[in-house]
Amino acid sequence: MAVLEQMTSQQAIELENKYGAHNYHPLPVVLTRGEGVYVWDVNGKKYYDFLSAYSAVNQGHCHPKIVNALMNQSQTLTLTSRAFYNDMLGKYEKFACEFFGFDKLLPMNTGAEAVETALKLCRKWAYEVKGIAENKAEIIVCENNFHGRTTTIISFSNDPVAREHFGPFTNGFIKIEYNNLQALEAALKNNQNVAGFLVEPIQGEAGVYVPSDDYLLKAKALCEQYNVLFIADEVQTGIARTGRLLATCGNCSCENKNCSDTPEVKPDILILGKAISGGVYPVSAVLANDNIMKVIKPGNHGSTFGGNPVAAAVAIAALEVVRDENLAENAFYLGNLFRSELQKYIETSSITKLVRGKGLLNAIVINDDEESDTAWNICLALRDNGLLAKPTHGNIIRFAPPLVMTEEQLLDCVSIIIKTLKQFEK
Ligand SMILES: Cc1ncc(COP(=O)(O)O)c(C=O)c1O
Repeated sequence: MAVLEQMTSQQAIELENKYGAHNYHPLPVVLTRGEGVYVWDVNGKKYYDFLSAYSAVNQGHCHPKIVNALMNQSQTLTLTSRAFYNDMLGKYEKFACEFFGFDKLLPMNTGAEAVETALKLCRKWAYEVKGIAENKAEIIVCENNFHGRTTTIISFSNDPVAREHFGPFTNGFIKIEYNNLQALEAALKNNQNVAGFLVEPIQGEAGVYVPSDDYLLKAKALCEQYNVLFIADEVQTGIARTGRLLATCGNCSCENKNCSDTPEVKPDILILGKAISGGVYPVSAVLANDNIMKVIKPGNHGSTFGGNPVAAAVAIAALEVVRDENLAENAFYLGNLFRSELQKYIETSSITKLVRGKGLLNAIVINDDEESDTAWNICLALRDNGLLAKPTHGNIIRFAPPLVMTEEQLLDCVSIIIKTLKQFEK
């Protein structure tokens, strides 16, 4: 069968099963088109996308401004490698540095690569600026973290499925409980070898765990006290997802400062990915000020595709959309509405325990064991009712629609979710 022929769902699933590695367990729906908050399957059925490609499609599917940037740049110059300069990278670096308030940006492609970059940058800073003895640097991380899939990153994961039979692992990490300042202080105290603290402002993959309001601010203060770099992994929480431009730092380009309901914290190293390109192209970035980024010299780090002209054009357009369409404010407003509407239902529900989140990064916890398949079955029923979402861990369903959603669409989604949950009430 020619690949370009219109396929049935079954044919598409069989092809992936036969020729693709089985490293994912997708919900059985085969998508062929996307526009804004909607996606369509190969049979023409329309769905609300309530996952947004794990928060990569914050600007909505196929945003015309971002797609135009991709098309125009891809007809002009796509890749030079960093062996030569190109006339887009500097423009993008200046734009993004001013947008997020940092001196310098190091361009990469995927989230995991950007995390790796931040770890290397932190270690090099530790040896060359802080003065830690060679090969002794340690980085504090949190239990239940998710920072990607490379060997070093899974070395400090505590998810057995992500780690089993992938050792030996990389040393130099200290794991502490998330949202526990005493644990952080204990790890920092009496240990001159700590170089950095790597943290997700909200633990997304773990099930949308929101720490207490003062956690990040106080963690940053502890890092300053012990001369340790505070590294924020905002690959999932960044770019307006949680109701502000960054979950750590309000620094919104907007006038509306009401969207900051937790104190602003300026990370020493900021890691971005996913929605920095609106889901159109793999783009990731590490940002830091000169006193940190200066340790990186030619030959220390790089990537053939990192900082290519298409990525640069796409990322500028994607960030402009976030600013011009006030997506942080929209996520803040709709997120509050979403949680309050679901909360009303949950008070009468036996199948749903709670809703939590910030902005449009939310989750509900299903009242069943972690091993049960109830959350998966609810996602199948949501699909049948026209809304796509997926369990994160066992009994937790993440809800993260594109941020270009309207209030009317959001309320429509709330009624689909409630109608579906009602099918599962005992
Ligand atoms: C917080 C966080 N960091 C890093 C990553 C890895 O990003 P990528 O899948 O692009 O490598 C993810 C992906 O979900 C993430 O949520």
